[in-house]
Amino acid sequence: MLRTAPTSWTCDHERVLRRLGPRIAAFAGAALLVGVLLVLTKAWYDSRLPGTYSVMSYGYADYGGGAAAPHAGHGGAGQGLSVTDLHGPKAGPPDARFELTALSATIRLASGRAVEALTFNGTSPGPELRVTQGDLVEVNLVNEDIEQGVTIHWHGVDVPNAEDGVAGVTQDAVIPGERYTYRFRAEQVGTFWYHTHQVSSKEVRRGLFGPLVIEPRELPAGGLDMTIAAHTFDGIPTLNADDTVQRRAVRPGTPVRLRLIDTDSAEQRFTLSGAPFRVLAIDGTDLTEPTPLENTALVVGAGGRMDVAFTMPAGLVQLSLGETSAGVAFSPDGEAFALAIVPGTDFDPLTYGRAATTPFGAASEYDRRFELTITRKPGFFDGSPGLQWAINGGIYPDVPVFVVEEGDLVEVTIANDTKAVHPMHLHGHHVLVLSRDGKAASGSPWWSDTLNVQPGERYVVAFRADNPGIWMDHCHNLGHAAEGLTMHVAYAGVTTPFRVGDVQHNEPE
Ligand code: C2O
Ligand code: CU
Repeated sequence: MLRTAPTSWTCDHERVLRRLGPRIAAFAGAALLVGVLLVLTKAWYDSRLPGTYSVMSYGYADYGGGAAAPHAGHGGAGQGLSVTDLHGPKAGPPDARFELTALSATIRLASGRAVEALTFNGTSPGPELRVTQGDLVEVNLVNEDIEQGVTIHWHGVDVPNAEDGVAGVTQDAVIPGERYTYRFRAEQVGTFWYHTHQVSSKEVRRGLFGPLVIEPRELPAGGLDMTIAAHTFDGIPTLNADDTVQRRAVRPGTPVRLRLIDTDSAEQRFTLSGAPFRVLAIDGTDLTEPTPLENTALVVGAGGRMDVAFTMPAGLVQLSLGETSAGVAFSPDGEAFALAIVPGTDFDPLTYGRAATTPFGAASEYDRRFELTITRKPGFFDGSPGLQWAINGGIYPDVPVFVVEEGDLVEVTIANDTKAVHPMHLHGHHVLVLSRDGKAASGSPWWSDTLNVQPGERYVVAFRADNPGIWMDHCHNLGHAAEGLTMHVAYAGVTTPFRVGDVQHNEPE
């Protein structure tokens, strides 16, 4: 009976353990499972976007000053500048006035195919708006029957914030029966476009967009100047809603300018054969001393624009949209057309044209430096599990808000660590491309509002914070934006009274 206590304890302990072991293991396993479930449930729960919310309460402030920056709410308390204060000229007669009525309509492609579209004034693309630099532009938007509401965003035009047309950020969506007036001065010369920024992943896809051209005061006389919008309707690639090769009679010697606009969510590969051509402008900004190109494809990212020019030769010139059946054939008799050709190389703006002085560059002192790294990771987005887009490691709304102050010189490094192309669009500003994958831009200054960032690419861009407001910065593959590839650049102290969500039905993406 003489046993030492420890032995006895050990024996009992072992016996007890032997008996209880499986139960403890089962219990621990169950606890672990419950724990994992709780974590997942919380992740799911937290990811659900509330019915209505302010973009100001979302994300975390990133001051571009490095790791020490606090995750405080942005919008300096008490400074009280609202986006509604940042509007265009209210008084005075406009130089150009348009009325755009949003309505559902059946449009017919050239092949005869009917498309149930959402349109401005019954057509898609909507009416081409052509104005002159310096014009005070007034656009009256009427929503006839677009149930989910509509707005108009002037893509690439750096308008005052209140005229930017983003539902839930700069205005409420315009519901059927309502009207809304936009007024802004057209300061930039170039090729732009307009589109709804309410449920845009569906409404733009279905046709609520149109071209906008701001012409210089001194127009080159004569010539053919044509906007060409590439868009996919019901899966059918089109140019200006035409899914065939359009034929155009053009006299030899005529200067031709084609304003290519990608209104789609995918990048478009344009080819131009039959004459040497030059790329005059990218995203509405002229290039410096563009040189002639041949056998070179023009890849335009979703939302982006490229203006190309050629002199009409004696033979056929053909613009093709990839290898689709859509194209435009220019010939002296307006009859000829050819099959699309597939050029050997893609146009690269990084080295095209002549370098020129820019207001800032790689060597400038930057007030803020931001990283915008796009990855894909498993998680929840708005309550749905899956592989999600992430910005700097977080899934929307856990994304940064880049906070700037007026006058700041801002550098942003955009890295695409995914397998998809992301055309990144910053509202209200144009960015200057400084480098790509460490290679400095060496051609004409390249200003962009929609930068097509290919898988694996890393761009360093810069802009001057000279347009106060709360601005969207998102992927213009609008499906990606709707999946959370969306964030904001906010000026400190600016607030918005508008909310995203079910109260006003505001749904920018
Ligand atoms: Cu062309 Cu935020 O859009
Ligand atoms: Cu994208």
